[in-house]
Amino acid sequence: MSSQSSSLFLDAANCINTQRPPIWMMRQAGRYMDAYQQIRKNHDFLTMIKTPELAAEITLQPIERFGFDAAILFSDILVVCEALGFPYKLVEKKGPLFDKSIETTTQIDDIKTIDVKNKLDYVFKAIKEILPKLAPHQIPLIGFSGAPFTLASYMIEGKSSPNLLKCKTFYYQNPKSFHKLLDKIADVVITYLNLQIEAGVKAVQIFDTWACHLNDIELNQLSISYISKIINGISNKRIPVSVFCKGSSYTYTEILKTNPSIISLDWNNSLKNIKHNIPKNVAIQGNLDPLLLFAPKDKLRIEVTKILNEMKDRPGYIFNLGHGILPKTPIENVELVVKLVQSFSNTH
Ligand code: CP3
Repeated sequence: MSSQSSSLFLDAANCINTQRPPIWMMRQAGRYMDAYQQIRKNHDFLTMIKTPELAAEITLQPIERFGFDAAILFSDILVVCEALGFPYKLVEKKGPLFDKSIETTTQIDDIKTIDVKNKLDYVFKAIKEILPKLAPHQIPLIGFSGAPFTLASYMIEGKSSPNLLKCKTFYYQNPKSFHKLLDKIADVVITYLNLQIEAGVKAVQIFDTWACHLNDIELNQLSISYISKIINGISNKRIPVSVFCKGSSYTYTEILKTNPSIISLDWNNSLKNIKHNIPKNVAIQGNLDPLLLFAPKDKLRIEVTKILNEMKDRPGYIFNLGHGILPKTPIENVELVVKLVQSFSNTH
């Protein structure tokens, strides 16, 4: 265990006792903020991601507005798909839409090794742009990547899908080729995360959002094994790695096999039911239902305080939502949650 740093987030990530839990929110830079919408009005999403000055400004917006204890790089998990030759656009009210999707095993064979540094250069430039602007806030920057299964699902579906019908059908018919795809993506993700770390992020999170669609055996074979490969491939072993799989509050035992520094939990199960089953050297992150931010303040206050009290005796706890914050979330409720967490004391 490393000694205490100047960051609450990194201390908690390293399971060091903190005076109160650090707080950040998945998708904290985004559409619920007016300041984000002001920029979005004049630029499309991919331009925002690919322009380091804009990405930096948007990354900083929630820090300046709410005082979160960590910043997360403004980008998207799907940039890796684009780098692999599968470009996409973001369609209003529909989500991502790919120019082409994977239909055949030949398309997977044809995916070439890519020069990650060059192809995703704008991400590393954004990190370099963010760091000096973040410095006065004295909080760390979190980098991230999608996990192979979720990225593969988008490359096969070509868009968001409620049940991954096309992706799973492709897998049932071509399991070897599907694994080849996951492996190719995993290799790129390893290089991508190592380069983010070289550029200066202080922690990384791996998102396997659609792991919730898999049964236990598939979860191990298609999600866990590739996340493990990625974590093993991260060169700097001092950088905390957080793993978020949707479904995690019930599948955490499997997710722990990836050897994460932080396990990020969704809201379907209470942390008090889970915490005793998580080894003391793994930090816990989560797990307020993002919909509770739409509840009346009294209800929200009760739910946040319940989580804080449940986790009070647990070194290595990071307050977060159980999934990303939604558009139209009332700003004053975000403020309330930050205030409740930041005025809480683990020692009283
Ligand atoms: O957390 C952060 O603030 C960092 C930025 C971030 C975004 N996307 C910004 C974004 C991160 C970490 C992501 C991850 C991401 N992207 C995931 C995994 C995490 C999760 O929440 O499950 C997934 C599945 C994607 C793919 C993606 N990108 C989708 C499905 C969408 C559309 C979502 C929707 O509700 O319309 C995006 C677009 C996207 N990514 C937006 C933002 C702020 C919205 C862009 C806009 O319309 O202005």
